Amino acid sequence: MKTQVAIIGAGPSGLLLAQLLHRQGIETVILEAKSPEYVLGRIRAGVLEQGTVELIREAGAGARMDREGHVHEGFSLSFSGRRERINLKELTGKTVTVYGQTEVTRDLMEVRKATGGISIYEVQDVQLHDFDTDKPRVTYIKDGEQAELECDYIAGCDGFHGVSRKSAPRDKLKTFERVYPFGWLGILSRTPPVSHELIYANHERGLALCSMRSDNLSRYYVQCSLDDKVEDWSDERFWGELKARLPEDVATSMVTGPAIEKSIAPLRSFVAEPMKFGRMFLVGDAAHIVPPTGAKGLNLAASDVYTLYHVLRKAYREGRIDLLDKYSELCLRRIWKAERFSWWMTSVLHKLGEDPFGQRIQLAELEYYTGTLAGRTTIAENYVGLPYEKVE
Ligand code: APR
Ligand code: PHB
Repeated sequence: MKTQVAIIGAGPSGLLLAQLLHRQGIETVILEAKSPEYVLGRIRAGVLEQGTVELIREAGAGARMDREGHVHEGFSLSFSGRRERINLKELTGKTVTVYGQTEVTRDLMEVRKATGGISIYEVQDVQLHDFDTDKPRVTYIKDGEQAELECDYIAGCDGFHGVSRKSAPRDKLKTFERVYPFGWLGILSRTPPVSHELIYANHERGLALCSMRSDNLSRYYVQCSLDDKVEDWSDERFWGELKARLPEDVATSMVTGPAIEKSIAPLRSFVAEPMKFGRMFLVGDAAHIVPPTGAKGLNLAASDVYTLYHVLRKAYREGRIDLLDKYSELCLRRIWKAERFSWWMTSVLHKLGEDPFGQRIQLAELEYYTGTLAGRTTIAENYVGLPYEKVE
């Protein structure tokens, strides 16, 4: 089989890239290790930057998001028993849209199907070959049979554990990492959200976050120990801990109910450099991870997709192959800023061990940032998403 761009991975990065390229008449084939149901079974963050929203619309997958997504003009930070609202709209002129990543993936899968794009699910032993030449190939096994895909370019959209980054020459790949000594325990419950906007709480017992998926579906998180198991957390213990970490008025108006999903996730910051190796490009989680504080994961993947989409479009349509070499630099400039913001949000909102000095500094930092226009603007412009780097 032959295509123009071979895409490894049918997560949001791979699907979004495929549909944007399709609209430009550029052919793609997606190879995915898991089944569609498995991919849709993953629950992840749900806050979309305006740039991400616009890109999903451009890919032709925005109809349900525009109907069902909730536009948020602000969010709150709670600390020292009080709540400070960050007015995103007033401070930046922009908003964010709350719409689950699972739904984004589902919508993209549907348009992929409707437009006749080829996605091959449940492939095994994907291997990337010859991407340092002008004839890259991908080999894989489907239904027990060996197959080969010839292409012009390979987009490695296969997440943190994928094969693409591992295929890069070791001596050319540099990685940067920070692992945090705590996790997030998240639950989904069929209850009305306690607040119509997100609340991130710094508390001496640890972080709490109130988020939502819809008017009757809440998503809540508490910081937990990495040694904790989901079984250690009964629903009752979870609700008790969540309420203890929130301002009193919020805690008393909280509607609780059975958890329909409960999971623990570790927190990590990670960046791989560069993001291009010959004709192979790393995109999204394959190249970088952020801790969930600030909800930048999917948005950062979308900004890589934006860059690769425009680089490839201009290479195919305008012969601008010089731009291919700029991909990595253009992406990394924005990625490091989002890494910084996610790291900062993580470091001011979590309990970082028994450190009374550090705790006072956190509170001073939160008070300073929320108490000045400059500080609030800094938080707001990062939260709604920094501008995309121009591809030119
Ligand atoms: N071959 C084919 N597919 C693979 C392989 C492989 N060897 N390894 C992994 N995959 C698939 C995974 O099964 C997954 O469906 O690649 C896909 C990668 O998807 P994601 O992990 O969702 O990564 P990405 O599309 O970049 O999305 C980034 O997802 O992890 C969140 O917080 C992150 O929100 C961000 C978003
Ligand atoms: C979520 O709704 O799952 C969510 C929201 C904001 C975050 C992280 C997760 O920062």
